[in-house]
Amino acid sequence: MKIFLDTANLESIRKFNDMGLLDGITTNPSLMSKEGGNPKDAMEEITKIIKGDVSLEVISTEYSGMMEEGKRLRQYGKNVVVKVPMTPDGLKACKSLSSEDILVNVTLIFSANQALLAAKAGAKYVSPFIGRLDDIGQDGMHLIKEIKEIFSNYDFDTQILVASVRHPLHVIDAAKIGADVVTLPPAVLDKMMLHPLTKIGLENFLADWDNLKSGNPDIKI
Ligand code: E4P
Repeated sequence: MKIFLDTANLESIRKFNDMGLLDGITTNPSLMSKEGGNPKDAMEEITKIIKGDVSLEVISTEYSGMMEEGKRLRQYGKNVVVKVPMTPDGLKACKSLSSEDILVNVTLIFSANQALLAAKAGAKYVSPFIGRLDDIGQDGMHLIKEIKEIFSNYDFDTQILVASVRHPLHVIDAAKIGADVVTLPPAVLDKMMLHPLTKIGLENFLADWDNLKSGNPDIKI
């Protein structure tokens, strides 16, 4: 399963990229707004830091505006994937951009039918927002299972990009189902690395080493 980072924060992107963990990035207007500054600079920088796919989202809600913005966003880098909302105009833009070899991520997916239509329109990625479904008392992960089952019946090239991830358990469940990608907020990726037994184990190793060294201060590895 590929791991994308769901952020426009350059520091976090560099941090996890240096660990070799990142296959791509997803952004959206809210994440851009959170960072402040000029989003163009951030977009350009992200596409340089990351070799994999970088989703940059359109702001327009009608077809011609999406097409214009999509083509402009694509100029930030060859790895740009244009993110369009799951609307009739978004689907039309998805179809047109895809036929011009511009990859598209259809975002704000909340049902299996929406995912099916986005795949039909030629999306490279569909982004079901599982956390927002959980927030309203619906089972977000069930949607991933449904989409996975439907896609496996056909030969779509579309990948399932699990979005709106809230905690590490979401990641394990998405991987068990066989989702293609999860996009994670930096805080979730941080939590995935931690285990109290790792911390305690390391503290014990170091204490035992200090013990050994106290009898022989010259020893080195
Ligand atoms: C995905 O592409 C979205 O940017 C993101 O996962 C939305 O997550 P949220 O529901 O935490 O805002």
